[in-house]
Amino acid sequence: MSFNDAFAQPSTHISAVPGQTFPFEYRSVAEPGQGQRWSTWPSVVKGSHGPLPRPEWVITSHAAIDTELGVLKTGKEADVHLIERAVPGGQTSLLAAKRYRDREHRNFHRDAGYLEGRTVRRSRDQRAMASRSRYGLQMLAGQWAAAEFAALADLYQRGVPVPYPVQLDGTEILMEFIGADRVAAPRLAEVRASRPELAEYFTQLSQAMEELAANGQAHGDLSAYNVLVHNGRIVMIDLPQVVDIVTNPNGMQFLQRDCANVCAWFAGRGIERDPDELLSILAGRAFGQF
Ligand SMILES: Nc1ncnc2c1ncn2[C@@H]1O[C@H](COP(=O)(O)OP(=O)(O)O)[C@@H](O)[C@H]1O
Ligand SMILES: [Mg+2]
Repeated sequence: MSFNDAFAQPSTHISAVPGQTFPFEYRSVAEPGQGQRWSTWPSVVKGSHGPLPRPEWVITSHAAIDTELGVLKTGKEADVHLIERAVPGGQTSLLAAKRYRDREHRNFHRDAGYLEGRTVRRSRDQRAMASRSRYGLQMLAGQWAAAEFAALADLYQRGVPVPYPVQLDGTEILMEFIGADRVAAPRLAEVRASRPELAEYFTQLSQAMEELAANGQAHGDLSAYNVLVHNGRIVMIDLPQVVDIVTNPNGMQFLQRDCANVCAWFAGRGIERDPDELLSILAGRAFGQF
């Protein structure tokens, strides 16, 4: 029996010594089945893994398999899926896979305004984006994914409460799944909270906004839908359009809108906070006055 035959036949007994048999322990190498793929960790391009030090739950094994567990949310610009990355018989982890749409069905409301002040060096890319060609659509989707991945990596390293970004692969970001037992943490807009709890969430959220501002940035699309609440802590999500307050000509308007949206939402739940005061604190942080 050849080597290959032995591997092709599990649970046979192989004669090593004539007349004697011993159990041949067959360990199959798991192959990805339906809704599965090999972990894409080894194949992403250099520089597309999350920042160091890596949390211990991040699986880097080449033997790991990614399994699709379902859709967390479909949106206009991206769909978010739940993925399990696991080493067969070993470590497992849950990840959120945010996949940007790269074709006709995208809504481009974020593509205007936010990109001002950002440079796209390759003029072919610029022309493609302007013409909305297929290549241009794909490039924009990839650019949004790359922008969000970079923002997550930067903010995570600065201690801002955002999901840990595991990897970027074209139009797909894999990040820490915020939730428990395969159930995503609720958005702030969906939590049932007492007034003291809400006041606490405001404090945490304005603190996170301050950390962004100190980094020269505004979220740019902040609302109770882009904040998750997990174990009493807020986690900011959905950061592709993070705005540079200083270099983007519309930067202050985005900052002002974030403040207005957040304060209006909390005011509607009995937590009165002054948006102008918040704005002046954040602007002060951004321009280094305090
Ligand atoms: N890291 C994550 N962990 C758990 N749920 C997530 C995570 N990222 C996104 N989600 C879920 O997916 C939804 C959409 O994600 P988001 O980044 O806001 O994309 P968009 O609003 O552009 O569709 C969120 O409201 C949240 O319910
Ligand atoms: Mg969102």
